[in-house]
Amino acid sequence: MTQSTRAFPRRWFDATMDWFDERIALRQLIAASLHVVIPRRAHTYYLGGITLFLFASQAVTGILLSLYYQPTPESAYNSILYIMNQVNFGWLMRSVHAWGANLMIIFCVLHLLRVAVQGAYKKPREITWMVGMGLLFITLGFGFTGYLLPWDQRAFWATTVGTEIASAVPLVGEAIRDFLRAGADVSALTLSRFLGVHMLILPASLVGLLLVHLLIIHQQGLADPHATEEQ
Ligand code: HEM
Repeated sequence: MTQSTRAFPRRWFDATMDWFDERIALRQLIAASLHVVIPRRAHTYYLGGITLFLFASQAVTGILLSLYYQPTPESAYNSILYIMNQVNFGWLMRSVHAWGANLMIIFCVLHLLRVAVQGAYKKPREITWMVGMGLLFITLGFGFTGYLLPWDQRAFWATTVGTEIASAVPLVGEAIRDFLRAGADVSALTLSRFLGVHMLILPASLVGLLLVHLLIIHQQGLADPHATEEQ
């Protein structure tokens, strides 16, 4: 490889950045976005980042699975078998997605516990905490709706029992259950509804809340658990 061809990607990258810089001061914007105040003695601040990484991994593997998954009671389970046995690296995508779902919940809870134990939810971080609660519920919602999608016996009965629990709510319980199931029983309509929520509503809501979460963290910096006064 000659000197000029080796330098090509770098020159091309710099030229592109210059082009954007002249118009929207891109380098300045990136530098400002990456500038977050992190206390020196921070040892447990990676838990939110790991949760974020797991979400990104779920998004990538989920999109790949959706290329082969068929959301009808007749074909859902067979499409899962097809992904596991016929699609190149399909078994890997499905396994990473299934394990990632559990890990995302675990790390989200560990992150919450770290914030709680270090008192990082206190003023001025109450909004970050409340938005975080929304993120936790959405993460649990991903698990609940995703569990039905393979449409095997375990998925069917778990969703039947899970949605039945909602009917224990006084007065409106049965209405909530029927709303979740899109009818009186778990059926093809439930499968469509859960898939729509799993692939569209929850991801859009999570990304929206995540932007707020990260924007506030960016503005405030992370709390220093050893600090003596409010910061
Ligand atoms: C999808 C779920 C979530 C993601 C991806 C996420 C991401 C993050 C990241 C990357 C940080 C900065 C690094 C760190 O402190 O670990 C952070 C900070 C924070 N998160 Fe989350 N988070 C999530 C859920 C939650 C939950 C469930 C809560 C609590 C109910 C929460 C409350 C907070 C608070 C209060 C901070 C600021 C902590 C400080 O200033 O020290 N987050 N989050």
